[in-house]
Amino acid sequence: MPPSVLVVCLGNICRSPMGEAVLKHVAKERGIDIHVDSAGTAAYHAGEDPDDRTVATCRKYQIAINHHARQVTQSDFKTFTHILASDEANLRNLHNMKPRNATAEVRLWGSYLDDKAIEDPYYGGNKGFERVYEQCVRYSQAFLDEVVGKSHHEPHAPSVEEPNL
Ligand code: 4NP
Repeated sequence: MPPSVLVVCLGNICRSPMGEAVLKHVAKERGIDIHVDSAGTAAYHAGEDPDDRTVATCRKYQIAINHHARQVTQSDFKTFTHILASDEANLRNLHNMKPRNATAEVRLWGSYLDDKAIEDPYYGGNKGFERVYEQCVRYSQAFLDEVVGKSHHEPHAPSVEEPNL
């Protein structure tokens, strides 16, 4: 079964929609079949488009982004195989709302690589969004390496049956 992943932050307008877009892009580049969505632990921005700075950063790196903010629901813990928190506060909130029959693995996204949080860029400048982007790329690769396997990193690598010319 292909993984289905929910990327989570607080408002679902800055970090997690960028994370969703980047993870989809990186998986596609690696030829991996995956379902990705994003959500916020809070509902303040429900229905809104991603923040202009998130959209601008994605556009700069030619990453397609299309999302409307929504809050995490109880059913997300059953429909997704993995729920990835941007920071420790998101992780705590997710564990607090997690239903007893949850099947999703709930982890800090950075725990697949360096255990760092993706810090909230909302009140800062563009530099914060660049850092979020750079972390999303590295954490997407690390997540796919661990969950799908490093072999998918090089879709065009020759198989053992092919002659070594
Ligand atoms: P996000 O950023 O969690 O990365 O979407 C934020 C967006 C909005 C707010 C805080 C963080 N806010 O306080 O409205």
